[in-house]
Amino acid sequence: MKKIIIPSILILTTLLTSCKESAEVSEVNDNTQELNQTLSDQGFAVLEKNCFSCHSPNVNSTENIASTMAEIKMAFITKFENEVDFSKAISDYVQHPSDENAVVKGAFKKYGTMPQMEFSEDELKAVGYFVFHSNIEKENWITDVYPKLKANYMANASTENKSYVEKGREYAMATKSVLGKNLMGKIKTVGTDEALSFCNVRAISLVDSMSNVQNVQIKRVSDKNRNPNNAANEMELAYIEGAKALLSRGYELKPQTQEIDGKVVGYYPILTNNMCMQCHGEPEKQILPSTMELLKKFYPNDKAAGYGEGELRGIWVVEMEK
Ligand code: HEC
Ligand code: HEC
Repeated sequence: MKKIIIPSILILTTLLTSCKESAEVSEVNDNTQELNQTLSDQGFAVLEKNCFSCHSPNVNSTENIASTMAEIKMAFITKFENEVDFSKAISDYVQHPSDENAVVKGAFKKYGTMPQMEFSEDELKAVGYFVFHSNIEKENWITDVYPKLKANYMANASTENKSYVEKGREYAMATKSVLGKNLMGKIKTVGTDEALSFCNVRAISLVDSMSNVQNVQIKRVSDKNRNPNNAANEMELAYIEGAKALLSRGYELKPQTQEIDGKVVGYYPILTNNMCMQCHGEPEKQILPSTMELLKKFYPNDKAAGYGEGELRGIWVVEMEK
């Protein structure tokens, strides 16, 4: 795939930041108990950037990508009544999405499994905190509260002082969230083979249309690439080899940054789950013959089949101007 450029929401974010002071928003919930506003804001930011694209914040959403955030909250709160258990269960699922850990009734059968994404413990704690204390399950939340929280988030978004490894990860995860939504949506509505054509053609123009902002460039590469444009270079291969060795010994993978030609380059692992198998799994068994045929047509030099679950499929590479 070609280079992926940052979603336009980030342009907005930066534009708005420069002309707006931080707004006081304390309508996360309407009970009198004191709220940890910082934690709540942090949780909202993670959700807005990475989760709402698939889990609509609108309780009445009819989008067919995944459960709404309200459905998730209600299912988890019924099973894990106290805040600590609730938060831990959400965090556990996001760190290791698996159908066994799913709680929303029938959801994984309907929507499939969530793609793996990388978040820190602190971010997930904040997500749990926000979802637990918000009134996201109420009818009027989306019209009355969400716009204010979003404005507040946009005002604060890029004033924070983050490390490059952290910034790069945010860009990669935000892009993944959008691509993942499109891919899962296509598979559900038109099936694997049509989705594949979408990935082959549309994904490129889709990401190209997310215009270049803040001198950040994102691409996906692999040691066993499908698209010839996604072959990893020497530096990238070095990271991939190291990551594979760690993975085989059961370690959690860590992202890494490096300075190359005055730019900071971040590497972020991309792992497979069962959703990927229909296009990257075992040929003819997991990848259906009709899909195989399309793959051979679009990618005569395809190296990206034969994967199992939980393997390193490739990496995000985020190039940031210093
Ligand atoms: C519907 C089929 C389909 C599914 C499902 C799918 N992929 Fe792909 N994947 C593709 C195609 C097609 C390409 C080549 C895209 C291009 O031309 O840039 C690709 C490319 C990639 C690349 C870029 C490197 C390369 O090989 O060119 C990565 C990384 C990747 N996929 C990871 C995943 C992961 C992880 C999952 C599961 C979460 C997944 N894919 C699910 C079809 C699929
Ligand atoms: C690319 C789409 C996508 C993104 C982005 C995404 N998810 Fe998911 N998520 C899914 C799918 C699909 C499922 C499984 C089916 C379901 O429950 O909706 C799921 C399931 C879940 C579940 C378990 C629900 C259950 O069935 O019990 C939780 C909790 C969850 N996601 C939290 C998050 C959080 C938090 C984020 C952001 C950090 C996030 N998700 C981002 C697609 C996504």
